[in-house]
Amino acid sequence: MKILNSEITPYSSYINRRKFIKNTLLTSLAISFSKPLFSKHSESPSTYNKFLEENDNLNTYHEITNYNNFYEFGTSKSDPAKYSQSFKPLPWQLAVEGLVEKPKIFDLESLLKGITIEDRVYRLRCVEAWSMVIPWQGFSLSKLIEKVKPLSSAKYIQFETVYRPEEMPGQKKLFNEIRGILPWPYVEGLRMDEAMHPLTILSTGMYGHNLLNQNGAPLRLVVPWKYGFKSIKSIVKIRFMDKEPNTTWSDVNPYEYAFYSNVNPQVDHKRWTQATERRIGEFYRRPTLMFNGYEEVAELYKGMDLKKYF
Ligand code: MTE
Repeated sequence: MKILNSEITPYSSYINRRKFIKNTLLTSLAISFSKPLFSKHSESPSTYNKFLEENDNLNTYHEITNYNNFYEFGTSKSDPAKYSQSFKPLPWQLAVEGLVEKPKIFDLESLLKGITIEDRVYRLRCVEAWSMVIPWQGFSLSKLIEKVKPLSSAKYIQFETVYRPEEMPGQKKLFNEIRGILPWPYVEGLRMDEAMHPLTILSTGMYGHNLLNQNGAPLRLVVPWKYGFKSIKSIVKIRFMDKEPNTTWSDVNPYEYAFYSNVNPQVDHKRWTQATERRIGEFYRRPTLMFNGYEEVAELYKGMDLKKYF
C-alpha cells in the first residue's frame, strides 16, 4: 500500500491540484492512524524507507503543521502556524552565488524544470529532543549543485532564509534588543560532501501538499542525520564558499551549537541529554540513534573526532 501518490510529480503539476492534494492527504491521514509505517511500504519500498523502524509511525499532517520551530514567526511551537498566514511564498526566487561557474537567480519554476519531485519519508530530530516522521516531497540538493557547476575551490555552502520583517513578525525584533531573538537573516551551512549526499534534499512539499508557510514554503532544506535547526526554511540564497560559513545558532551560542550538529546520542547538549527523544504524539521516550539512524553517512566523518566537531 502506498502512503503517497508515488507517481513522480513535477512541482508545477501539483501546484493547485486540489483533488490530488485532498485524496493524498486523506489517504495519508487514514493510514497514519492505522498500520505502522514500515509495513505500509512493503509493497513499494522507496529508497530510504529501510531506515525507518517498525515502530516509526508517520506523524499526522496536523502535528507536522502545528508544532513548528520557525523563529521568524515567533518562539513558541504554535506561533508559526498562527503568524505565518500573510507570508507570500510565491512568486519566489533563489539566488545562487559565490564559487560557481554559473551564478544565477532562478525563478522557482525554472529551477524545478526537469527536476522530478520524489517522496522521501525521513525522521526530523530536533535538538530539543523531540522528533517526528515526515513524508517529505523534494529532490536531492545535488541536482541543483550540478546545474551551477561549483569551482574546485568551493568546499562549503551557506544557505540564507528570506528577510521580510513586514511579513515575518519575529524579524522585527532585532538581535540584542530586549526581546530580540536571533540575528537575521537566518543562515545555515553544509560541507560540500554533505550537501552532495543523496539523503540531503530540498523540499517543496509534504503529504502531497505544497509546503505550508510554517514548514518553510516554498523551499527548505532537509538534512535527516543532523539536528533540525540545520534544515533551514524559506531559502532565498545559496552561496558557495571556500571556508566554513557562519551559521545562525553557532553565531549566537558557539558553546552549545557547532557547525556539524550531527545527531549523536553520545554527545549531550550542554543543558540536556541527547541520548533519548520523544516522538511527537507519543508519551514515552525512545533511544536516539547515531546519525538519527542514517548510518550510511558515517563515512563522511571517518577519522573525525565527533565529540570535538559536534
Ligand atoms: N529555519 C529558519 N529560517 N528559522 C528557524 O527558526 N528552525 C529550525 C529549522 N529551520 C528554523 C529553521 C529548527 S530549530 C527546526 S527543529 C526545524 O526547522 C523545524 O522544522 P519544522 O517546523 O518543519 O518541523
